[in-house]
Amino acid sequence: MKKNILLTLSILVLLELLSMIQAQITLKLYKYCIVGSGPGGLQMAYFLKKANRKYIVFEKNKISGSFFTHYPRHRQLLSVNKKFTGAKNAEFNLRHDWNSLLSDNASLIMPNYSDKYYPHADELVRYLNDYANQFKLNIQYDTNIVRISRVHYKKKIKFKMMDQRNTLTLCDVAIVSTGLSVPYIPPNITGIDLTEGYESISTNASDYEGQSVLILGQGNSAFETAQAISSTCNFLHMHGRGGVRLATSTHYIGDVRAVNSKVIDSYQLKTLDGLNEQDIRKMGFVKTPDNRIKDCPKTSKGDLEDDIRNSGYDRVIRCLGFQVLLKI
Ligand SMILES: *[C@@H]1O[C@H](CO)[C@@H](O)[C@H](O)[C@H]1NC(C)=O
Ligand SMILES: *[C@@H]1O[C@H](CO)[C@@H](O)[C@H](O)[C@H]1NC(C)=O
Ligand SMILES: *[C@@H]1O[C@H](CO)[C@@H](O)[C@H](O)[C@H]1NC(C)=O
Ligand SMILES: *[C@@H]1O[C@H](CO)[C@@H](O)[C@H](O)[C@H]1NC(C)=O
Repeated sequence: MKKNILLTLSILVLLELLSMIQAQITLKLYKYCIVGSGPGGLQMAYFLKKANRKYIVFEKNKISGSFFTHYPRHRQLLSVNKKFTGAKNAEFNLRHDWNSLLSDNASLIMPNYSDKYYPHADELVRYLNDYANQFKLNIQYDTNIVRISRVHYKKKIKFKMMDQRNTLTLCDVAIVSTGLSVPYIPPNITGIDLTEGYESISTNASDYEGQSVLILGQGNSAFETAQAISSTCNFLHMHGRGGVRLATSTHYIGDVRAVNSKVIDSYQLKTLDGLNEQDIRKMGFVKTPDNRIKDCPKTSKGDLEDDIRNSGYDRVIRCLGFQVLLKI
């Protein structure tokens, strides 16, 4: 008897839920749904709005461009902001302005926000949010899309987006512009939990005073970190695969930029910094009895000072880049 009542009740609840879901589906229908309001999402939204398309941007945080409130950790952008070019040609000037988004408002450009060649990242956040507000882009903040799936709806295939409150939206076109937002942690490395990541390290150089530090990675975030702590730490070692690629020689802007690479100078001039070619995927870490972190097995034939490597480091910092958020 009791079971029957329970069953009836749960069926009723289920029916109620289904009708609620149905209501939400019919309420929210967009041609274009964009996930993320970073530079890419904003730019897309601007042109969709201009073309009078029905679109919405879902942003999990309360502001646009929030990645740049935290990164780069030492707050200096790597993208060029050349305010003075001697030219009035907007196209020419844009070539020396790597931050601005496109729009028909010639005043809404990054050089109006900072005079610095490499601006502070906060200025970019301020710029992006002004851009979003100026054009009244249709951004729904505080909305984290946790699942995207494909469904049949009125004989058409649509994308179904579900947010953290289980609200559903149906879209014809789904655009994921979340960028590279998830720190890359290599799988299957013994003792990787002994390391700390670029995403959460202290940016106060005093915290590294007198320490021996090993940085994993030899890209811009690794060199940015190295540069920030090289005056306070004792020994600084860097491991990377395939050698350092300098933008000055490769001509690729994603390689290590001169603004970050002062440590190479001190390495080449035989001070206490060391760079080593080593495949991080083949490494492991153990804790020594005196609470230091040792890298092992020692597979490289590098020229890092062996006594430091043998006694272990005070800190091992992962600066191994970012990957796309794949779990939606
Ligand atoms: C912003 O830039 C434009 C185009 O270069 C310029 O005409 C304008 O005066 C600037 N505005 C401000 C507030 O700096
Ligand atoms: C262009 O952008 C600037 C800066 O946000 C703003 O002050 C100005 O009103 C805008 N101009 C137009 C025509 O919308
Ligand atoms: C990690 O280890 C697991 C189990 O040993 C294995 O199945 C997986 O393929 C490994 N992944 C990588 C990327 O090596
Ligand atoms: C950095 O750390 C030192 C030592 O712990 C502390 O005295 C100082 O206030 C910190 N500086 C900042 C800007 O937090």
